[in-house]
Amino acid sequence: MKPLIDKHQRTHNYLRISLTEKCNLRCTYCMPAEGIPLMPAAHLMSANEIFEIASHFVKRGVDKIRLTGGEPTVRKDFNQIIERLSSLPVKLALTTNGLTIHRHIDVLKKANVDVINISIDSLDREKFKKITLRDKYEQLEENMNLLDAQGFRLKLNVVLLKGINDDEIIPFINLSKDRNWQIRFIEFMPFDGNNWDRSKTVSLEAILKTAESHYGSTQIERLKDAANDTAKNYKVEGFTGSFAIISTVTNPFCDSCNRLRLTADGKLKNCLFSSGEYDLLSSLRNGESFDREIDIALSNKFAARAGLDDPNAFNNPENHKDNRSMIAIGG
Ligand code: 5AD
Ligand code: SF4
Repeated sequence: MKPLIDKHQRTHNYLRISLTEKCNLRCTYCMPAEGIPLMPAAHLMSANEIFEIASHFVKRGVDKIRLTGGEPTVRKDFNQIIERLSSLPVKLALTTNGLTIHRHIDVLKKANVDVINISIDSLDREKFKKITLRDKYEQLEENMNLLDAQGFRLKLNVVLLKGINDDEIIPFINLSKDRNWQIRFIEFMPFDGNNWDRSKTVSLEAILKTAESHYGSTQIERLKDAANDTAKNYKVEGFTGSFAIISTVTNPFCDSCNRLRLTADGKLKNCLFSSGEYDLLSSLRNGESFDREIDIALSNKFAARAGLDDPNAFNNPENHKDNRSMIAIGG
C-alpha cells in the first residue's frame, strides 16, 4: 500500500491518537476556562473503530502509535484499546497525567509499553493546584514512584509558563540525577482559548541559560537527538538521566515531521496547528475507504506549522482561533 509521503517528501510513520476530550485535570493552558462543549458519545471512535483505523495506518507504514487525550485513561475501555492495539506491529506509547495510571500497570506491561510520558508542570503541591485547578499532586507523586518501581522509564513533560513555574527548571532537572528519566521542557504554545501570548513562553535559550548558570556551561552536554525527535536533548555531566527542550515556538522542527494526528471523533489532522480536519470516521461508518481523505490531508500539509512559519503570523493568537483547543486535539 502507498506509504504516507507528503509533497515535501516527508514520510509519516507516527500516528498520535486522542482517545477522549475529557480530562480529570483542568490545566489552564490546555483547557479553556469556560470548558469545551463535549461532543455526543456517538461521535467518538469506539475501541473497534480505533483499531480498524489504526490497522489501516499500519498497512500504510505507521510503526509508532501514541495514545493521548484529554486524558486517555479516563476512557472506560482504555485497557481494551491498549490490548487490541498491542496486537499490531507498532511501538505503543502513552502520554498521561498519571493520576489513574496505577489501575493499568498490568495491561501496559503486557503491551510492552515501557516508556511513559507524564505531564507534570510543578513539583510543588500548591503550584500544581494553581496550574491544574485540582489538588492532586500527591496522587501523581505516588504514581510516578510506583511506575518507577515497576520498571517503567519516565519522561516528564513540563510546560513552562513565565513567572509561574520557570523557577522550577533546576529542581526538575535534578530529578534526572539518579534516575534514567528524561525531563522534557515544552515551550508554551498557542491554541484556541488558552490566553497565549509570546511573553509567557519560556524559550529554549532561556532554559539553557538557566541550566548553564546553575551547573556551569561546561557541565551541560548536548546529546545526539533521535531521528524525527521533536526534542533537543541535553545531559548534566554525571547525571543518569537527561533533559530536553521542545521548542515549537522559537525553533520549530517541521523539516523532520513524521506525525499525523487522529482526534477522538476520528478526524485526521496533518499538523498540530492546522485547523483542517479530514473525516475518516464518517467514511469508515459509511463502509467507504478513507484513503482519499488521508491522501488529501497529506497533500495539504504545509512545510511548517500549518503555514504559520513566519513568527509574526504564528505569534498572533487570531491565527489560532479556528483550530481546536489542545484538550480537543490531543497533545
Ligand atoms: N503548550 C505546550 N504544551 C501543551 N500541552 C498541552 N497544552 C499545551 C500548550 N498550550 C502539553 C501537555 C502534555 C502534552 C500532551 O501537551 O502538558 O504534556
Ligand atoms: Fe488534562 Fe493534560 Fe490538558 Fe492538563 S494538559 S488538562 S492533564 S489533557
